[in-house]
Amino acid sequence: MTRVEVKPGDGILVTRNLTKIYGERVALEKVSVAIEKGKTTVIIGQSGCGKTVFMKHLIALERPTEGEVFFKGQRIDQLHNHELAEVRTSFGFCFQMGALFDSLTVYENIIFPIQQHREIKDFKVLGELVKLKLALVGMDGYQHQYPASLSGGQKKRVSLARAIALNPEVVLYDEPTTGLDPITSDVINELIIKLQRELKITSVVVTHDMKSAYKIADRIIMLHRGKIAADGDADYIRNHPSEVVRQFIEGRIGEADLAALRLGGTKFPTQFQPEDFSGT
Ligand SMILES: Nc1ncnc2c1ncn2[C@@H]1O[C@H](COP(=O)(O)OP(=O)(O)OP(=O)(O)O)[C@@H](O)[C@H]1O
Ligand SMILES: [Mg+2]
Repeated sequence: MTRVEVKPGDGILVTRNLTKIYGERVALEKVSVAIEKGKTTVIIGQSGCGKTVFMKHLIALERPTEGEVFFKGQRIDQLHNHELAEVRTSFGFCFQMGALFDSLTVYENIIFPIQQHREIKDFKVLGELVKLKLALVGMDGYQHQYPASLSGGQKKRVSLARAIALNPEVVLYDEPTTGLDPITSDVINELIIKLQRELKITSVVVTHDMKSAYKIADRIIMLHRGKIAADGDADYIRNHPSEVVRQFIEGRIGEADLAALRLGGTKFPTQFQPEDFSGT
């Protein structure tokens, strides 16, 4: 596939020939993407294809082996950590690894990023701000509860409220619906849509969940083994001619992988034989 060359100013977030290699493993290979401002871009692909690594590069939590990353035209992949701190105030994160702090109340969890970056000492102002953010996700009233007393869906909503605490321009979500039942997942999908529309947020969402991808995406990018396998709107992806893309969206294992899996039983000793225990 010939790809159009992306330029730093083409989108709010741009990666150009982004390549990341860990030891022998190529996690990303020449990924060039321009993410449009105010839109929801969904990244899909099989486990291990590079989605989280890609996302981490968007805020320089990982540094490229080769290639560049730009935020609003400014190259960010080479910035020092103290310069990045300011850039990162424009971002909200809803990462699995960035779960809520169990020892802090909902209120304290939400003011945490605010206090790290802004000098707000007025408790009345902070209280109003937290109320506003929680109301947006339907969780006002839970301020004094601890995460342990919340359901999985409620925790996700509170992490959404925390992600938007600093009025970010971009929110990055890594697997926001994983582990939730279909209805609770849909509540999270609706919230992502609502935040994008009402707060004009640019969203980048990594997901395995095709239902959620089709629902929230303006654009879907599929990664396969660290490269872009498909890039387009939901209809384009739904009708994509490539077998790799079809297998993923239909949740089918490929013929070659299936054959290898079935062969596995005869190729590798998976059961102990009586002689394995002799002499013990
Ligand atoms: N810090 C690291 N050191 C070494 N290898 C890494 C590191 N981070 C990621 N990788 C490797 O890079 C590849 C892509 O990982 P990544 O976490 O992006 O996958 P993913 O698409 O997010 O998968 P999943 O859907 O399971 O979360 C994997 O092979 C992973 O083992
Ligand atoms: Mg991941």
